[in-house]
Amino acid sequence: MVVGEIVHHSDLLVIGGGPGGYVAALHAAGLGLDVTLVERHRLGGVCLQHGCIPSKAWISAAADYHRAQGLAELGLPLERGEPDIRRLRDFTRQTVERLTNGVATLLKARHVHVVQGTARLIGPTSAEVEGPEGRQIHHFRHAILATGSRALEPEGLKADQKQVILPRGFFELEALPDHLVIVGAGYIGVELGMAAARLGGRVTMIEALPRALSGLSPSLVEPVLRRMKQLGIELRLGARIESVQRGAGGVGLSLAVEGGKAEVSGDVVLLAVGRRPNVEEIGLEAVGLPAEGFIAVDEQLRTALPSILAVGDVTGPPLLAHRAEAQGRVAAEVAAGRPAAFAPQAMPAVVYSDPEIAVAGLSFEQAEALGHKVARGRFPLRALGRALAGRAGDGFAEVYADEASGVLLGGAIVGEHASDLVSELVLALEMGATLEDIADTVHPHPTFSEAWGEAALAGLGQPLHTVRQEGSPWV
Ligand code: NAI
Repeated sequence: MVVGEIVHHSDLLVIGGGPGGYVAALHAAGLGLDVTLVERHRLGGVCLQHGCIPSKAWISAAADYHRAQGLAELGLPLERGEPDIRRLRDFTRQTVERLTNGVATLLKARHVHVVQGTARLIGPTSAEVEGPEGRQIHHFRHAILATGSRALEPEGLKADQKQVILPRGFFELEALPDHLVIVGAGYIGVELGMAAARLGGRVTMIEALPRALSGLSPSLVEPVLRRMKQLGIELRLGARIESVQRGAGGVGLSLAVEGGKAEVSGDVVLLAVGRRPNVEEIGLEAVGLPAEGFIAVDEQLRTALPSILAVGDVTGPPLLAHRAEAQGRVAAEVAAGRPAAFAPQAMPAVVYSDPEIAVAGLSFEQAEALGHKVARGRFPLRALGRALAGRAGDGFAEVYADEASGVLLGGAIVGEHASDLVSELVLALEMGATLEDIADTVHPHPTFSEAWGEAALAGLGQPLHTVRQEGSPWV
């Protein structure tokens, strides 16, 4: 120890204050552990500061703005003015600020010792922290690595934060670009691209693969593609960037596309091509853990070193805030010596597109590939009173069950409120429900949630508000 160096001891050291880390810290403190949390930027991580929350501010505002324009058809015209994006940006900042303060208050109330700085492991039970308060040494029984992930930049195209931006730069825009070019039509590209288009911007998306949202079944993505077309979004699939020209008038991209070349130019280019784990500078090599790629963990979320656990994006896909939170709770239990494992029956995933897509459990294709004879029940929202009355008839709910046992294997919902509606499916999967359980559950009328009961009935071969068409799912 160096003279003057401050030494701290705690039961648990959490590195990273995002949804994985701060939830782990809160829960561990609730279980009676003495907890220190180290964060180098702001509490809440990418989700709160630059991702889930700011994007919801923009997406909700864009959805309201766009829907309000449709009111004229109902005889309720609204005056249209020019959008002032700076006010939306300010509202986004205020929302983030409120939630950040909320996280700080919760941590304080649980007596979590929050340290600002960058932590680096120096041994299996010790780390050094460099921050505004100087260098500190922390000794711990357990550490939880929750350092998250950061945006990737494609080969040959680096962000300059002005003309070429990363997703976090989107929420700092002062004005909507006349023409926004998005590289990557995955979660972020589609969500932000549709928000920009609904606010009135011109949007072009460039995707290397032959499909947008390629991780999801094509039938789920279809309604979103239709809406993209209506919004005038241009989708360039199977396109690879060959060269970039930056000039005063914007950015030009030369693309290699099937059968030749193409040019696209825009005012701002947004890079949304995936994420990589933050594993550098945390001392993994000092404790003998691999310092490249995602950190491998077991069901207890332990790394190869029993004293060191990891949660969230840094442990690999799916990179989802709710997964990080769920892991954070389990890791806290493990650190407290309780028997716990991260083994959810279903992990929901939501794309906040227009309409929203939400899935949980197995996809139809996965269920079949696992050898199940699958009973599939589909219910279109256009047959649902509440959806039609609310001008939200686009989309459907689907359930997949093992035909012999009726046990639910997975499902999906596409439509307005899908992000909230999917929770019923997740609970049903977690509880091992059958199609009958869902069909016999009384859903309030008129609500969107009735779509689940109807889809289950269709899966049982007893459709109520739909007619079966030969050779196709229940529609
Ligand atoms: P992504 O993996 O969803 O999509 C990236 C897309 O970029 C892919 O379709 C890929 O083929 C394409 N791509 C890669 N390199 C390219 C290139 N050079 N040129 C053109 N296209 C290229 O990644 P994204 O959208 O950046 O989001 C990162 C992750 O963050 C997601 O996978 C998800 O796990 C998480 N996320 C979750 C959200 C949610 O839960 N609603 C919202 C946003 C992000």
